[in-house]
Amino acid sequence: MVRGVGAEPRVEQITLPAPGPGEVRVAIRAAGICHSDLSMVNGTLTPPYPLVLGHEAAGIVVAAGDRVDRVRAGDHVVLNWAPPCRECWYCAHGEPWLCAATGAPAAPRGTALADGASLHVTLGLGALAEEVVVAENAVIPVPAELPCELTALLGCAVLTGFGAVRRTAGVAAGDAVAVIGLGGVGLATVAAARAAGAAPVIAVDRAENKRELAIAAGASDFLLSDDTLNRSVRTLTGGRGVDHAFECVGRAATIRVAWRATRRGGQVIVVGMGARDDMLELSALDIFHSARVLRSSVYGSSDPDRDLPELAGAALDGTLDLAPLITDRIVLDEAPAALRRMARGEGARSVVLF
Ligand code: APR
Ligand code: ZN
Repeated sequence: MVRGVGAEPRVEQITLPAPGPGEVRVAIRAAGICHSDLSMVNGTLTPPYPLVLGHEAAGIVVAAGDRVDRVRAGDHVVLNWAPPCRECWYCAHGEPWLCAATGAPAAPRGTALADGASLHVTLGLGALAEEVVVAENAVIPVPAELPCELTALLGCAVLTGFGAVRRTAGVAAGDAVAVIGLGGVGLATVAAARAAGAAPVIAVDRAENKRELAIAAGASDFLLSDDTLNRSVRTLTGGRGVDHAFECVGRAATIRVAWRATRRGGQVIVVGMGARDDMLELSALDIFHSARVLRSSVYGSSDPDRDLPELAGAALDGTLDLAPLITDRIVLDEAPAALRRMARGEGARSVVLF
């Protein structure tokens, strides 16, 4: 839990209520640490505090409230941080990832801290915890045979990366792709581009230690994001630039890196979630002349209820290898250290095992 911007995250004791009507209680078995968690600690994002971090997790249902028919005790589930309401304009128009009702960091009714302060949970989940009480539509059943440490990643990094490639961008075989920023989200994007038959798949980071991880995830080339990047990208793409560049950092500066790496008429997909006041400067003439498209990919433009089981199936039959995304398996007490590693740009996913 984090008490405010810049405060050291700490493990604290809270008491959860029994699940009410339409709610389920889940024992978390594995939870990944995502850059969005770090952003909520360092103030890049400023949700209400005190806040239970975590939104990428898998576990086992321990109790279901009244009127729950989607799951029952014993089911293995992945948490969904953007459960669509299925009623608003966006849901009715086939864009459930833009659902008007998602995102409020409400805590389960009746949860409060010992000092009486009201508690908030990340994206309705607060998944860096032993147990959670969440809305029924925020859990998605997955096969029990899949290890929870892998299914946890489906809930954010993998759904985001695969959705960005397949659904937002529509990458086709033979397309040239660049991925800027090689954390869990970027590496999942690399894997998805490879699976789509993209070539080359150019992985870009400012940290040299990402080279091996990128190649393991399926990149054909690794480039440092230094002054030579543009020239190297053009050398690999017949002088043009890539068809699709995915920004997986969440900064205006790296959106510009992606912009410059893209060919005329290509597209830049912003996957990272940046700060409100981090402004992007582009030349009006360049926008016109380069004919590039700049678009964002919220939760991979996915419908998690439809797409997550498909990815789980691919992980089960071996066509999707998620193991390279995990570099650290830790206990909850080590989560603050894992956030510090992430801030230094080290490793890929740290997964807390319970
Ligand atoms: N140029 C290139 N790479 C950079 C730069 C930069 N200027 N700055 C940071 N990076 C790299 C880091 O070295 C790291 O490898 O971006 C990567 C980010 O990885 P993580 O911190 O692990 O982040 P991740 O969890 O993958 O999330 C990426 O997606 O969901 C959003 O909020 C999330 O904005 C974040 C983004
Ligand atoms: Zn995330």
